[in-house]
Amino acid sequence: MLDISDLCSGYGNGPVVQGVHMQLARGETVALLGPNGAGKTTLLGALSGTSPTRSGRVLMDGVDLMSLPSHAIVGHGLVQVPEGRRMFAPLSVEDNLRLGSVRLHSRSGDRVQQRFEQVYALFPRLAERRRQLTGTLSGGEQQMVAIGRALMSAPRVLLLDEPFLGLAPLVVEEIRRALNVLRDGGLTMILVEQKLDIALPFTSRAYVLIKGQVALIESSRALAARDDLSQLYFNLAQTKD
Ligand SMILES: Nc1ncnc2c1ncn2[C@@H]1O[C@H](COP(=O)(O)OP(=O)(O)OP(=O)(O)O)[C@@H](O)[C@H]1O
Ligand SMILES: [Mg+2]
Repeated sequence: MLDISDLCSGYGNGPVVQGVHMQLARGETVALLGPNGAGKTTLLGALSGTSPTRSGRVLMDGVDLMSLPSHAIVGHGLVQVPEGRRMFAPLSVEDNLRLGSVRLHSRSGDRVQQRFEQVYALFPRLAERRRQLTGTLSGGEQQMVAIGRALMSAPRVLLLDEPFLGLAPLVVEEIRRALNVLRDGGLTMILVEQKLDIALPFTSRAYVLIKGQVALIESSRALAARDDLSQLYFNLAQTKD
């Protein structure tokens, strides 16, 4: 479904992500791991068209996403939930969610209603707070809005950038349950996540990014059997020098 080859990306002062190849089958969930600064966020931005410079080939169901601007990439069905959420605080939950559906505008109003129903079923807390201003929500609720907003555009590939960062265990559990429902419903996802006990049970394969390059591709189950990830990062980093 997603075929990435020789992807490079950065910020104008030399590449951060270099020569990345990745393949995702439809319905597959993949973890993107790597130490801080490895380029995980930059890689997701290159896919969604939001990183400043990008080159290489990204085919999604045969369409080359590299030739499309970011809004058209969303229209094609690849949507990123950004790190740190970035939502419009003065808007209500419902209005924030509605913003996510603008790429559905050429389709019927019924579909927007269906999307709202899906998001509220996944996150009942948002249904209760639909008129509340997003800026007054807890961090976990804001993360739910961020994921919900991405879902409003009916994505076929969802990119999640550390969605659990800084959240309390109970909220992590709530969001995890929702993501499990999406995964079991067949949504294709890339999850950037530092915590292996969250990332590996959720995914079938893991890519480890070191200094902007893929240093290891491993089944999540096999990687979970190792308990030396920081040592592994360290060793892989040495081989990249
Ligand atoms: N807006 C930017 N302008 C210039 N350089 C940037 C920018 N954003 C990130 N970088 C640089 O690109 C490199 C990779 O950053 P990136 O945020 O992609 O890493 P990451 O793997 O997501 O890290 P983390 O785990 O801390 O989120 C870093 O060296 C960072 O300093
Ligand atoms: Mg990051």
